[in-house]
Amino acid sequence: MGFVGLQAGVQLATVAALSLAMVGMVYSATFTEQFTAFSHDGIHVQVAPDGQEAKIVLDEYAASGFGSKNQYLFGNITMMIKLVPGDSAGTVTAYYLSSAQPNHDELDFEFLGNTSGQPYILQTNVFANGIGRREQRINLWFDPTTDFHNYGVLWNRNQIIFTVDNKPIRVFKNNEDLGIAYPKNKPMGLYASLWNGDSWATQGGMVKTNWTHAPFIVSFKDFTTLDGCVVANNDISPCTATTTHWWEASAYQTIDRKQAEQILWVKNNYEVYDYCTDRKRFPVAPLECERNIPLL
Ligand SMILES: *[C@@H]1O[C@H](CO)[C@@H](O)[C@H](O)[C@H]1NC(C)=O
Repeated sequence: MGFVGLQAGVQLATVAALSLAMVGMVYSATFTEQFTAFSHDGIHVQVAPDGQEAKIVLDEYAASGFGSKNQYLFGNITMMIKLVPGDSAGTVTAYYLSSAQPNHDELDFEFLGNTSGQPYILQTNVFANGIGRREQRINLWFDPTTDFHNYGVLWNRNQIIFTVDNKPIRVFKNNEDLGIAYPKNKPMGLYASLWNGDSWATQGGMVKTNWTHAPFIVSFKDFTTLDGCVVANNDISPCTATTTHWWEASAYQTIDRKQAEQILWVKNNYEVYDYCTDRKRFPVAPLECERNIPLL
C-alpha cells in the first residue's frame, strides 16, 4: 500500500498526525480523513480512538451511515467490512459508489441480513445515467459476520469488476457501442449505511427485524484502500487521462482467463438471482447480458 493513500488525495490534518500515523512507514488513513459520518450522537456511528475502525449501529431509534469526503472517477476502491453478527434479519448494509442526481451512476453492494446461522445475500447492481435494474444476488463462500473481508470495485474506462477478497464476482463492461450507458464521466462518492429493509430484504420480506436483538452493528476498516482518482474542482480531465493511473493499464481493461474462471465459479456455485435470466421482468435478456458473461 505504502503511500498510495497519500497520492489518493488524503487530506492530512497536521504534520504531527502524519508522523504518528507513519510509524513503521506504512501510512494508514483514518476514518475522519476519508469520511464524514451522517450522525454525530456518538451512538449510531462509532469511530475507534485511533481512527482505524468505524461501526454503524442500527437500533429502533435510528439508522445511519457515512460518506467519503472525496469524489472519485475510476480506481480500485475497496474496504474491509464485517457484517452484522447473529440475527441480522431485516437489516440491509448498503456499501456503494454514487454520483449526484439526476441521471446518476451507482455501483452497489447490498448485504441482506438473515436469521442467525442463515446465509447473508450479497446483491450487486449497476446504475448508469439513471438506469439500474441490474440486480444480481449471490451467497458468499464464507461467513461474512465472523471476520473482516474485502469488498470493492476495480473501475476503469472499459469495465467495472466487483470483487470480494480480490476475487472477481461480476463484471460490467463498457457496452456503449450497443447504446448502453456506462459510468465514465460523473465522479462518485463512496457511501455506507445500515438500515431497516424488512419490507423486502430477508426471505422476500417474510422475516421482519427483531428489535429485541438490536443494536445491529456493521464494522468497517482499511480506509487507505480508496485508491481512486480524486476529482477536484469539478475537473475530471486528470482522471480520464489513460496513461497516469495503474488501473488503466491494458492488463486491467479485460478480464483474463483466471478471472473469468472465478466469475463463473461464483455464478455456478453461489448465484441465487440474475436479472439477465429473469424472464418475468425481462422477456428478452437486456442487451449487455451476453457480453458480461465471461468466455473461457
Ligand atoms: C436467508 O436464509 C434462507 C434460508 O436458508 C434463504 O432461503 C435466504 O436466501 C437467505 N437470505 C435472505 C436474504 O433471505
